[in-house]
Amino acid sequence: MSSIPGPNSHPAVVITQVRSPLSTLYYPNLTPKAGEIRIRVEWTASSPLELHQADGGLLIQPPHIIGSSAAGTVMEVGPSSSPTNSNSSNNRFEVGDKVFGYSFKTTPERCGQVYITAASHQYGKVPAGMSLAAVATVPANLVTVFRAAHADLGLDLPWPKPKGWEPAQKDDPILIWGAAGSVGMYAIQVFRHWGYENLIAVASSKHHEVLRGMGAKVAYDYNEHGVVGRVSEYASRTNGKSDGPKVPYIFDCIGSLEGTLRPLAEIAEKGTKAAILLPVIVKDATATDVPEYELDVTKTLPGKWAEGVELNGVRAHFWEETSGLKDRFMGEIMPTLLEEGIVQANKQRIVEGETMLERAQTALDLLREKAPSGERLVWRVADDEWL
Ligand SMILES: NC(=O)c1ccc[n+]([C@@H]2O[C@H](COP(=O)([O-])OP(=O)(O)OC[C@H]3O[C@@H](n4cnc5c(N)ncnc54)[C@H](OP(=O)(O)O)[C@@H]3O)[C@@H](O)[C@H]2O)c1
Repeated sequence: MSSIPGPNSHPAVVITQVRSPLSTLYYPNLTPKAGEIRIRVEWTASSPLELHQADGGLLIQPPHIIGSSAAGTVMEVGPSSSPTNSNSSNNRFEVGDKVFGYSFKTTPERCGQVYITAASHQYGKVPAGMSLAAVATVPANLVTVFRAAHADLGLDLPWPKPKGWEPAQKDDPILIWGAAGSVGMYAIQVFRHWGYENLIAVASSKHHEVLRGMGAKVAYDYNEHGVVGRVSEYASRTNGKSDGPKVPYIFDCIGSLEGTLRPLAEIAEKGTKAAILLPVIVKDATATDVPEYELDVTKTLPGKWAEGVELNGVRAHFWEETSGLKDRFMGEIMPTLLEEGIVQANKQRIVEGETMLERAQTALDLLREKAPSGERLVWRVADDEWL
């Protein structure tokens, strides 16, 4: 990489130093190998993960390109792995296809840059009529829901969903705390589609109508005193099983030590499975404070969780290891859920700015101010000269 443009390079938005403004560096354009495509990234969605990385240095080694969800245009397709194999995954794509997906593994693959060269199974075709800004909100957080359901909650989401299929936990209370967050909204829509009917959403009151429309059975406001008691009372009343915990499944879609884990520790009982989005935020990033994070959920709130509560930290980055997802999620499941209207993309808040760097920095500042509420920050990546 270089701080000056070269003939065969492109700009990327980079964390060069923790708790410093973002910068631009230039990276080489990588020719796709077999099983890869090169994409011009046109839109991305900012995730709180970028704030954890920029302000807390979470799991990064600067310089680090930001971003994980991308939407853009296929510029180059790698050679088929076998000239006789017409099922080679690269054959799904042609130059000019509009695609969206999730690239996160190594610095050259991340999305806050004009070109990504990535494995083609990490991308799917954009459904007709959908904007790149809208679909950029989807990949990272929709796959998070599938990863959490399969690996951390043990709730089945069979694909394709067999006709007439119903989950064994159809009426079990499933608590989705932080339901107005980007992950939370996808969780409600996905679980409802697969027939989990007793979904308890916790979010600010202003989002309750939308969340009920997406499939939440009830909604409670975490800002109101007594929310823990109300959730517990509702779950006790509607859980048809005489033994076991009143809330058998908890999906913490925020992962804040004081904001979500502490109230959840009052609700969880022996036998509750809790999936908590990592990192656990021990102390928020602010303009003056260094954030603190915990990556081991079992170390949180010692002595506060009831014995026998199963605590699992969700790591979407491992989605490819989840049975059945690697080959089908980005290319088939995700576009189909959008196409069929089963999942609506998050509401978008477009972050403006003269340059890619300015837009990225403004989005990061908005995340630090906790500005997004029921919406996802999206911004145009490639500046006009690249389009
Ligand atoms: N480990 C993983 O695999 C993984 C994957 C995705 C995300 N994450 C992490 O998960 C967190 C959430 O990500 P996101 O993209 O969904 O965030 P987001 O959409 O930016 O979250 C914003 C929402 O958080 C809600 N919120 C804040 N504090 C809350 C509380 N105490 N109780 C309930 N709701 C609260 C707000 O709800 P109201 O508007 O109702 O106030 C707001 O709408 C981030 O820390 C992110 O890094 C982890």
